[in-house]
Amino acid sequence: GYPRGVSTFEALIAAQDRVEPRDEMPGDYRATLVRQIAQHAHSEIIGMQPEGDWITRAPSLRRKAILLAKVQDEAGHGLYLYAAAETLGVDRDDLLEALHTGRQKYSSIFNYPSLTWADVAAIGWLVDGAAIVNQVPLGRCSYGPYARAMVRICKEESFHQRQGFESLLTMSRGTPAQHAMAQDAVDRWWWPSLMMFGPPDAESPHSARSTAWGIKRFSNDTLRQRFVDLAVPQAEALGLTLPDPDLRWDEERGSWDFGTIDFTELREVVSGNGPCNEVRIGRRVAAHEDGAWVREAAAAYAAKQGTRGAA
Ligand code: ACO
Repeated sequence: GYPRGVSTFEALIAAQDRVEPRDEMPGDYRATLVRQIAQHAHSEIIGMQPEGDWITRAPSLRRKAILLAKVQDEAGHGLYLYAAAETLGVDRDDLLEALHTGRQKYSSIFNYPSLTWADVAAIGWLVDGAAIVNQVPLGRCSYGPYARAMVRICKEESFHQRQGFESLLTMSRGTPAQHAMAQDAVDRWWWPSLMMFGPPDAESPHSARSTAWGIKRFSNDTLRQRFVDLAVPQAEALGLTLPDPDLRWDEERGSWDFGTIDFTELREVVSGNGPCNEVRIGRRVAAHEDGAWVREAAAAYAAKQGTRGAA
């Protein structure tokens, strides 16, 4: 302990203490956080689309209730994260504008289509599973509001991952057609899930600085390996295979070796050429425009309240 308020940014980072909005921070630290938190928030709300497509087609009331809750959770995650970004002095409208015009990114994973009901399960198991592996360490990131947003997000992601696993298990143990559907979904979502962790460490421009600043606690490749090591035994429990002939237990490393990831595909998807990029942004922009009257009404109401307060 040292008295807060006199600490410099460097002292907070060195002490593994939290940087709070009131603290002075280097402009590049702030810009890095805005970039990452905004991308993260955008991913949460764009991520509502692939699964939202299945809400009206869920096979039972129980599955529908679970899926509705899950998609609503993603909206909530987006809201906590936009709020966390706003503590850095940016405006939510500007962040949305940057998403809509392609100046800011969102996760590559949400540019793939959800073709069957089994995709909802595979997304829960793999995509939310990967998100947990990436986000639990962010709960210890140096910026307080971002770290605190992770607490609830990770608990909810854990529910999402479990519901996906349980749904996939049900299908895997179902009829041969259901089993085949589950396997097909896993075959399509496996490699894109590994790409969520970002480029390999050697080609990750932001890693060194973000690690020095305590934003990143583990490297892209370290977290990717952790995810593979968790997923392999789970796939076995599901009675499904992972589409990688090179998966092999490495006794020395105590980890699973895996095949070569096609990072050209990641670059293509991130630069706008994935299977669903246009659909995702098109629908986001349309939803934003459809909601204009709500924002206008809220602003008019706030203005009216302000006038009353002044009187
Ligand atoms: N999809 C889209 N863009 C990506 C991806 C991906 N899977 N992985 C990396 N990138 C981008 C980075 O954002 C960066 O782009 P930029 O310079 O234009 O901002 C570029 O590729 C280079 O990558 P890195 O240097 O490795 O970038 P960074 O240090 O930010 O690490 C990572 C990338 C690991 C994704 C990090 O930003 C992070 O942990 N983000 C928070 C988690 C998150 O956004 N999750 C969203 C998906 S999970 C969910 O919402 C359910």
